[in-house]
Amino acid sequence: MSVSLNEFELAGSRMVGAPDAASMLGTVPFFSGLDEKKRKSLVSQGKEMTYNAGDFIVREGAMGVGFYLILDGKAEVRKRDRLLATLERGQFFGEMSLIDELPRSADVIAVSPTKCWALTSWAFAGLVKTNPEVALHMLKEMVKRVRAAQSSPTS
Ligand code: CMP
Repeated sequence: MSVSLNEFELAGSRMVGAPDAASMLGTVPFFSGLDEKKRKSLVSQGKEMTYNAGDFIVREGAMGVGFYLILDGKAEVRKRDRLLATLERGQFFGEMSLIDELPRSADVIAVSPTKCWALTSWAFAGLVKTNPEVALHMLKEMVKRVRAAQSSPTS
């Protein structure tokens, strides 16, 4: 019998407590518009996850269950053999599947030891509904990614 693991249970990922997440979240632009109280409440809704180099954080085609913000390390966004982007501390991924409820559009693979702050889909929905500044930041970044894809020689 095959057991299907969701992203939060993948081998190689390890949930850890979030003692420093509140202060770390304050230092990334994604959350810098939020006050301390809001950040603390958000931290309690998410989980810190750690990955080794080579670990798949999300897999293309899988249903999405989480939104991820990189707290430390680096991850590559890959579609089959094509490198779409390299994401670093302060950057996010996993929003697409949570927004349109379709399968993951690409793999995201840790390329060095990587720590992410991860939110479940329902906590993500609450975050964007109640924090327009976060939603706007996310939209701006998504537009940037569309423009980068449009100017990519392979697109
Ligand atoms: P999702 O489709 O949920 O899972 C894979 C993620 O990779 C996707 O959400 C985006 O967050 C990210 N992603 C997909 N395409 C690109 C791209 N061209 N540039 C940067 N990130 C991307």
